[in-house]
Amino acid sequence: MKTDDVRADIPLLEKFIYLDAASTTPTPKPVVEAMCDYFYNYNANTGRGAYKIAIKATQKVKDARLKVARFINASPEEIVFTKNTTEAINIVAQGLNFEKGDSIVVPNIEHHSNFLPWLNLKKKGVNIKIVKADSYGIIDPSVIGEAIDESTRLVAVTHVSNALGSVQDVYEIGNISHDNNSLYLIDAAQSVGHMKIDVKKMKADFVAFPGHKGTLGPVGTGFLYCDQAQAKNLNSCALGGGTVANVSENDFQLESFPTRFEAGTKNIAGFIGLGASVDYINRIGLEKIEKHGIRLTKELYTTLSSINNVKCYGDPQNIYGIVSFNINNMNPHDVAKILDEIRGICVRSGHHCAIPAIKHIGAYEQGGTVRASIHYYNTSEEVQKLGETVEEIAKTFGV
Ligand code: ALA
Repeated sequence: MKTDDVRADIPLLEKFIYLDAASTTPTPKPVVEAMCDYFYNYNANTGRGAYKIAIKATQKVKDARLKVARFINASPEEIVFTKNTTEAINIVAQGLNFEKGDSIVVPNIEHHSNFLPWLNLKKKGVNIKIVKADSYGIIDPSVIGEAIDESTRLVAVTHVSNALGSVQDVYEIGNISHDNNSLYLIDAAQSVGHMKIDVKKMKADFVAFPGHKGTLGPVGTGFLYCDQAQAKNLNSCALGGGTVANVSENDFQLESFPTRFEAGTKNIAGFIGLGASVDYINRIGLEKIEKHGIRLTKELYTTLSSINNVKCYGDPQNIYGIVSFNINNMNPHDVAKILDEIRGICVRSGHHCAIPAIKHIGAYEQGGTVRASIHYYNTSEEVQKLGETVEEIAKTFGV
């Protein structure tokens, strides 16, 4: 599939220049159609009914779990369906029995989702060791190695920074964590669907994924990969329907993994859509998506950084899909508002739920950055249009 074929499946791209893939991506027609098929033809609960459409719905969610697992080189028994990446990380933070004196190593440029769940454990006496990225938002894996000691139970790192686009060497960090007997969690919110993810090669114990970003699935979906060896160490925090094999008045026996982590009725249509979106990404081809992404990210950075009074953040040699920038001292929300008002360009502005990262690059006082982020459906023409419009705004207001 070519970029134009994908654009034909996403009607909103006719009306807007959508450059906010890091936030969420528009859902292509075949994914919407897969969900409509469920709503119109077999809208029943899963894992409960004995009637035909309930069995069909159950099978479709099972198929989706298999597709998602294969996509990241895992087995379906290692996939917990969640509502987003944040929920996946919180399951690990709350489910591993951290104790007083344990320590967790985490960089200082994380999205709040891979920061607050760990900081919160300080209440239990867990030490949070924060390692510093360089001025471009790159984490030197050896700095992680130096922060690990006998008390370290977990290293938690984001693959691609949502605020800066910086790509971390998650493979080398995996080797270091593994060699030091530490558990390893990766936040793959900005990399899945953009580049090949192999959880085994990464030596990850846990990887948290969104369904609604790079994979082009629906909002309200995400998933957690949990290595089978770790499943027994993870306690479920949410209990209820679907999580137990037996119950007495005094006790209960939990279902096996991952069922015991999916309490209550799940987002059935959403996960069926997620399965269809993985098929869709596979039809395009991940290599093609990544190649397109690398080229367009370079164009984005070069175009924006060549404009007078525009500052881009991050190292152009080591970012993917995301360019954060500012125009002189302009408030980033004002810039984003003008981009939308005059050209229908959709970008995110502010601190991007990553206040420590924004402080790290010195953009906090300014109110954060403007962030443009791309996927396979974006074109060079759209990047040029963004560049021309930013130049116009910089000339008019940016002095
Ligand atoms: N985490 C998403 C973003 O960075 C919402 O915009």
